[in-house]
Amino acid sequence: MINASIENMIDFFCDKRNRSTWHKLRIANFPRFVKYPTSQVSGWGLTSCLQIGYIEYMADLMEKIVSLCKRRGFVFPSSEIYGGIGGFWDFGPLGVELKNNIKSWWWQTMVQIREEVVGLDSTIIHNPKVWQASGHTLSFTDPLRECKSCHQRFRADQLKGEKCPECGGKLTEVKQFNLMFETFIGSAKETANKAYLRPETCQGIFVNFANVVDTIQPKLPFGIAQIGKGFRNEITLGNFIFRDREFEMMELEYFVKPGEDEKWFDYWLKERLNWYLDLGISKKNLRFFEHPKKALAHYSKRTVDIEYQFPFGWAELEGMANRTDFDLKNHAKSSGKDLRFQDEKGEKLYPYVIEPSVGVERIALALLTEGYREEKDKKETRVVLALNPKIAPVKVAVFPLLPNKPALVKKAREIYDDLKNCFNVAWDDRGNIGKRYYSQDEIGTPFCITVDFETLEDKKVTVRDRDSMKQERIAIDKLKEFFQTKLA
Ligand code: GAP
Repeated sequence: MINASIENMIDFFCDKRNRSTWHKLRIANFPRFVKYPTSQVSGWGLTSCLQIGYIEYMADLMEKIVSLCKRRGFVFPSSEIYGGIGGFWDFGPLGVELKNNIKSWWWQTMVQIREEVVGLDSTIIHNPKVWQASGHTLSFTDPLRECKSCHQRFRADQLKGEKCPECGGKLTEVKQFNLMFETFIGSAKETANKAYLRPETCQGIFVNFANVVDTIQPKLPFGIAQIGKGFRNEITLGNFIFRDREFEMMELEYFVKPGEDEKWFDYWLKERLNWYLDLGISKKNLRFFEHPKKALAHYSKRTVDIEYQFPFGWAELEGMANRTDFDLKNHAKSSGKDLRFQDEKGEKLYPYVIEPSVGVERIALALLTEGYREEKDKKETRVVLALNPKIAPVKVAVFPLLPNKPALVKKAREIYDDLKNCFNVAWDDRGNIGKRYYSQDEIGTPFCITVDFETLEDKKVTVRDRDSMKQERIAIDKLKEFFQTKLA
């Protein structure tokens, strides 16, 4: 039963009617269920078996993704030779390409194609007064409890019961733990010199609001966008790159007329959902989560998360917040500067802000989860990362059919050298062609080119498609055009 088709199980649980049962079993039950051996559950009902099977499949999927990321150079634990450091990850040769592609697609679609949106690159460390005005020094906290025996720390809101989940020891009372990393400016470690690593990039946008308005003289609505590092001293980690202490954020602050904020909120929610669908994330793995009014952040009138069905369950991929005029008003009050916007009629007002905000690492993990698949043939298992070609780290791989035939190598090198001016191209002449195809499939390369003996005669190469595995002959002088169309 456990081995029943994975696809059937997924369909079963992705079907709305079955979701509520599935939800009850999510993360909380995870460790309990994965412990049961297949034989032990054979007498259970179909639903339980499918649920257990699905949970096991998802745990296995996460392990496979983590292992692929390490093996092929997407993600490494930071400072690994010294035992790593919790919540910090390094991105290897393929990981950095993947992240760069995500960031540049976001920048292209959120900034460059939009006449009314401009970019910014502010510093990571701001004047500490910024974090007082934004409310972070007071409110950017998580409730924390510590075990009096083993001294492990836990998020109080994630604990079940009154005992330490690790050793059963007694827990301290709840105290509020500020997630901002502190640092000191200058040579003296004095309170007066204390500063913070930014926990979100948007405050750099708010404090530059007047500068940007003065330089571009926009009309409402308009947006200021930023991509950059964020730092949070998270209490609980886990789930690979999902929750990190250092991560990259992509944030847009979209300034609108008060009263039009709800309309623009709905607009951005739709836009951002479509952005993920366009990247190839299936609708069944995305959903909205409306934050209850009483749980809203201190600055928010409304927050909706776009959640993704990660291998460990549904979790926040992106947050959409209506920040109202909270930030501009507070910075104006705190700095004494007039941060109101003057509209066409000469009236001064504080615009409302709609903020789509997302971490690059979360998108990377969602795309890896979405794209990972295994196809069994008679001899081997083909692992494929079906990444959108726009996001794939390598776009084209070039192979000479035989590495010991100088004429083939020379021609393949010429093609490689020519294409690498336009795309990120890989070269591979190890092993046989089948192995090279599989190796590229596993990292998501959408196209492979093989130069064979016929190439020397007809000036055509074999182009093989990652997803369909179909091969077609394309003239060498048409290759650039061919890939430009396919990768657009
Ligand atoms: N300026 C709004 C803001 O910071 P948030 O919901 O706290 O809102 C926005 O964070 C997004 O940043 C999240 O939806 C998530 O994608 C990402 N993010 C937040 N904390 C993260 C962490 N510790 N590790 C990785 N990504 C994180």
